[in-house]
Amino acid sequence: RIAYVNGRFVPKRDAMVHIEDRGYQLADAVYEVWALFDGLLADPEGHFARLERSLAELRISMPMSRRALTLVLKEAVRRNRVREGLVYLQVSRGVATRDHAFPTTPVAPSVVITVSRVDRAATEARAAKGVGVVTTPENRWGRCDIKTVGLLPNALAKQKAREAGAVEAWFIDDLGLVTEGASSNAWIVDQDGTLRTRDTNANILRGVTRLSLLDVAREAGLKVEERPFTPDEALKAKEAFITGAGSLVLPVVSVDGKPVGDGAPGPVAMRLRRLYIERAK
Ligand code: PDD
Repeated sequence: RIAYVNGRFVPKRDAMVHIEDRGYQLADAVYEVWALFDGLLADPEGHFARLERSLAELRISMPMSRRALTLVLKEAVRRNRVREGLVYLQVSRGVATRDHAFPTTPVAPSVVITVSRVDRAATEARAAKGVGVVTTPENRWGRCDIKTVGLLPNALAKQKAREAGAVEAWFIDDLGLVTEGASSNAWIVDQDGTLRTRDTNANILRGVTRLSLLDVAREAGLKVEERPFTPDEALKAKEAFITGAGSLVLPVVSVDGKPVGDGAPGPVAMRLRRLYIERAK
């Protein structure tokens, strides 16, 4: 495996960042994850747009142009010889003596890229079975629209899911509504066949897969509502699923151990998964 670190491609085991990188000490960094289909990045522009927005919100400069970054990402994919997988990009504010406030003399952002392989047969098998989710109180900060590496609440929620034999955790806000998953957006298919996913005015990440899938669903003639739902509504729905660069479109068959619909992946989710993958390819 080959990683990209600050202008160089190096074997992953030798890829290092400085101990005073602000990403490491303060989570002062943002990231993006692209799904890779047949060696090509899925939804490249959507992720670039969100990266630029996350960086701008934190006043970190874009480390290089979109064009240059595209070349570096493609080169990272090529050097790793991965066709089906995930590409991870992290940009931190850079290296500076520890101080919560920004460095007073400008530093260059740190850029790290890794590429990993995904076993598509295994992920298709997982989708065909569906996954469970657990619920957990929303305890993240107020800017979940920024894709920062400050993921401790997400990591703890994901661990809770794993220990319950589930795959994802849904955060529940003070009104009892699902905000999103620890690393995905949440959807249901109502009894009348309407797709429902939370609006992005709320404190959630604007998922690139979510946005693409809204298009896919509308093109497929499905009715879509951007409106939040409760875990109880998910249990009473026909289907539920999650979306993200890692999960693509993944059917949810249980919430806190209770079955959604008939407890099997639904036809709408499976169809949307197919349509999404076809379009991303
Ligand atoms: N996670 N919500 C959260 C909190 C996420 O971390 C992610 C993505 C999503 C889905 O966004 P997108 O469709 O743009 O991937 C929603 C990535 C995959 C991760 O952390 O690995």
